[in-house]
Amino acid sequence: MKAFHSFRLDAINHCLWRGEERVPLGPKAFDLLRYLVDHANRVVPQDEILEALWSKSYVNPELVKKYILGIRKVLGDRRDKPAFIETVQKRGYKFIAPVRDESASVDPGSTDGSPTRIVGRHTARAELDTCLERALQGIRQVFFVTGEAGAGKTALIDAFQHHAALRSNSRIARGQCIEVFGGKEAYYPMLEAVGQLIRSADASPVLQTLAKHAPTWMIQFPALLSLKQKEALQREVLGTMGERMVREICEALESMTAAHPLLLIIEDLHWADAATLGVISALARRRGPAKLMILATCRTEAIAGMQNHLKSLKQDLLIHRLCQECELQRLTQADVSEYLAAEFPAGNLPVGLARLVHHHSGGNPLFMVTIVQDFVRNGFLTERMGKWTLTKPLDEIEPGVPPTLQQMLEVQLDQLNAEEQEALKFACVLGESFSAWTIANSVGSEPDRIEQLCEGLTESRRFIRSAGIQELPDGTVSAHYEFGHSLYRAFLYGRLSAVTRARLHRSVAQQLESLYTPDRQELAPTLALHFEHGREYGRAIHYLILTAEIEARRFAHRESIELLQHALDLVARVAAADRTLLELRVLERIGDTHYALGSMSESVRAYEMAATRAAQAGLAGAHAHALICQAPPLGLIDPDRAVAAVERAVEVIADDAEGNALHARARFMAAVLRLLYDRWRDGDWEICSALAPKVCLPNERCLSEHDEMFYVYVQCLRGNFDESARAAGEKLRETKSLMGYLGAVGVKMLALLFLGEFGQVLEIIREGRAMAEKSGYDPWLFVFREAWLHTLCFDFAGARLLCEALMRSREDVPSTQPQTIARLAGGYIELEHGRYDQAARCFDEIRDHKATPKFFLHWYWRLQAQIGLTQVSLASGNLATARTEAAGLLESALRTAEPTLHAQAWEIKARVAIAADVEREARECIQQALSIVDRWRVPLAAWRVHATAWDFSHKVADYAAAESHCGRAASGVLLLANSLGPGEAMRNSFLAAAPVSRVLARQPNGLPL
Ligand SMILES: Nc1ncnc2c1ncn2[C@@H]1O[C@H](COP(=O)(O)OP(=O)(O)OP(=O)(O)O)[C@@H](O)[C@H]1O
Ligand SMILES: [Mg+2]
Repeated sequence: MKAFHSFRLDAINHCLWRGEERVPLGPKAFDLLRYLVDHANRVVPQDEILEALWSKSYVNPELVKKYILGIRKVLGDRRDKPAFIETVQKRGYKFIAPVRDESASVDPGSTDGSPTRIVGRHTARAELDTCLERALQGIRQVFFVTGEAGAGKTALIDAFQHHAALRSNSRIARGQCIEVFGGKEAYYPMLEAVGQLIRSADASPVLQTLAKHAPTWMIQFPALLSLKQKEALQREVLGTMGERMVREICEALESMTAAHPLLLIIEDLHWADAATLGVISALARRRGPAKLMILATCRTEAIAGMQNHLKSLKQDLLIHRLCQECELQRLTQADVSEYLAAEFPAGNLPVGLARLVHHHSGGNPLFMVTIVQDFVRNGFLTERMGKWTLTKPLDEIEPGVPPTLQQMLEVQLDQLNAEEQEALKFACVLGESFSAWTIANSVGSEPDRIEQLCEGLTESRRFIRSAGIQELPDGTVSAHYEFGHSLYRAFLYGRLSAVTRARLHRSVAQQLESLYTPDRQELAPTLALHFEHGREYGRAIHYLILTAEIEARRFAHRESIELLQHALDLVARVAAADRTLLELRVLERIGDTHYALGSMSESVRAYEMAATRAAQAGLAGAHAHALICQAPPLGLIDPDRAVAAVERAVEVIADDAEGNALHARARFMAAVLRLLYDRWRDGDWEICSALAPKVCLPNERCLSEHDEMFYVYVQCLRGNFDESARAAGEKLRETKSLMGYLGAVGVKMLALLFLGEFGQVLEIIREGRAMAEKSGYDPWLFVFREAWLHTLCFDFAGARLLCEALMRSREDVPSTQPQTIARLAGGYIELEHGRYDQAARCFDEIRDHKATPKFFLHWYWRLQAQIGLTQVSLASGNLATARTEAAGLLESALRTAEPTLHAQAWEIKARVAIAADVEREARECIQQALSIVDRWRVPLAAWRVHATAWDFSHKVADYAAAESHCGRAASGVLLLANSLGPGEAMRNSFLAAAPVSRVLARQPNGLPL
């Protein structure tokens, strides 16, 4: 570590230390200081600095000047009499302080005269040391430092952090939980800590580990990613649920700590969000070695009394001995004495001073420090010729010391002038830290003036201290300050009346809003908060919606919904004229988020509420839109209601110039839904195809991704399998949402099934299931398709097992679809065993609308059941029934537009006719079936058609045709079988099935398998 005077540059952890105190310095300012220190005693020209630090972007050279100014401030340096950085006119800057290289061998106990030397705390420090020791040995540790406000938790862990950095060469990451007037952002302190690791000197292994183990975290730092990486990651993390983020960060941190210890500090856990607590809980509970120490602070009083997450987490970890707690007690008089001796070396102070300070502060370190600083400020304690002395007798001071910290701060505040008081008012509204720029704009003053004023307060150690400088989005920089202690801010804020608070928040919000750009979305939560407290509820709702989006990007969907619910609560406070549109926006987001989470009923409820509100307000467009939104979730719960909702949308929107596009969309979607959920009607297909050019415009997003994919389903069901697979593949490449992905992958699998590409389908299923498992969402869609594939491969037992497992696991959505596939599979199993009645019962249940209510493509499955029934009659020798069934099947199949079904229906009818010796009918049916398989690529039906044609030709003694059909049936079978890899179980079940093996066994010239 490079050191100069009492400062140390901690390159590993990207921070500056003064003794045991971390000195606030932004990342750029740190880099600049480090560059100068690395090139100490040499004039570094401004151009060189620009090239080294801002090589990728153009910045105004003035910026360097500002940063130097900020660094000087933090170091306490002066331009006219520099001790650290000298400005060499027109040439550049030179770091002039002597630089030492401090190795890890420095005695950790020595604190080179730091102003924040801590006293007492021997037991706590020893416990922390032991804990670190264990962590270094690979035994993960969780340590809570608790205590009242101002008890010295932060001071203790600062000292420990410093000590650990010197001693163990550990990586250190620190995250601060923020009290944001009640609002909480998911993973806020964790992201801060991970951000530090990413910016640290040895960032590259950290980045590699994150990329490998934690893509969901990697994507939270978009500035680090190229466009290509971002796109790849976006695909990889689609549909992530919160648990995945927790698991991934645990794995990443464990992997990082295998070689390199990590001290993870989370400050003020009593303000932590639930997601962060989830990470701590998971890290603490995981077994396996990790050179990891988690050190968290929390205020005892903040978690006492009522039940809360943190309290139960801590208690639970304590009971299971998965953490340690050290509660900091008040300082003793001896500690105070030690403190005074260290603060005022070579002093000549009366013994009674420690007693006095101890008595008044009650041993609370914060109060102690404040009292002592007050003595200095008021001139009771002065330095004369290097010696500190008391200027008044002790008994005269005593009555002057206010009895509580609060009152003491009151006195301090009264001593400030009006301008300073006004600036602090805005400052405390802004939060723990603030920029001179915002204050200046809020009070209508010049930033330089405010900076000067804040410098004055900083120097006299009143309320605030310098926190470096920060770059604003427009490229300018502004001095930053923070409160000396969070209690100071709380004190100042507590003094403001409700009316003043609202006024100040509003004013601050307006200033901050001018900084908001799409690149600075992280400001949204702050803006939401200030607008809400400023009682500008419309703006607050706007920023709450944006904040909910941030939460969603962090996969914190529940938190996202909570924010939206809060926004909804605020709607009532918005002026009546603006209310409805805001409410509709919020409700639609709630509906979307529930849908993404798989909570279908809740999603429907939100959209329904939106529809009702829009209807009440007479907003036909919004009403129709909300009705259309209901279709996707309703389709899964109650298809008839889904269709009815969209049909209602057609009614509520006028087909005039204004409503025309929406009207077309509603009509189009109503037809699409009827085709998929009710039954196939050519009339509906005609509506779709007529409206498609109007609503499927590629650049005008008339249709949602979901709607678009539904239309591809329709096209697929008309036999356009190749085109559908292609369109779905394209959507898969471009979609950014889980629903877009599921819609596209669902239709792609269906098209590939029809194309007989079993191997490809299986690959997609495996990938999809792995992805769903990794991300934590329900893999039902893949399980459906897998079960479907099993039925096509004659593995009926396998299909049934899959469906039964699925039916047990799903709660929100009726399980009719898996139940249907299970029944179909069951029917074939019974048929194979010759139990015809049972088989017929299974197939009948599928046809029965009571036993099997409607679901997506239910009519397709009912036709499959009819195929099954015909086969039962045929196998049982009940030819009369078989003929009726086959005729009915054909009639129903021909009412659809799907060519595989057409071919299958003709083929079965032919088979029945052959069995019944009705040659003419058999010939006609075969010709019809053959003409379909010649015209369409329908590999699922083609081999069966040829097999039956072979039987027929054989029967009518046309041996040449028989041989030809047998060969074509065999190649059709092999085409399907060979699409699956040689070792696949489903390939074997397919080849072993009687209808298949018969083709291969009896084909005359023995084609290879
Ligand atoms: N052991 C100590 N010796 C000397 N000074 C101390 C000690 N502990 C704390 N202080 C000083 O007391 C003040 C308050 O301490 P600190 O900020 O650490 O309290 P805290 O427990 O973190 O409070 P909060 O709960 O508000 O975060 C600081 O100025 C700190 O430097
Ligand atoms: Mg603290």
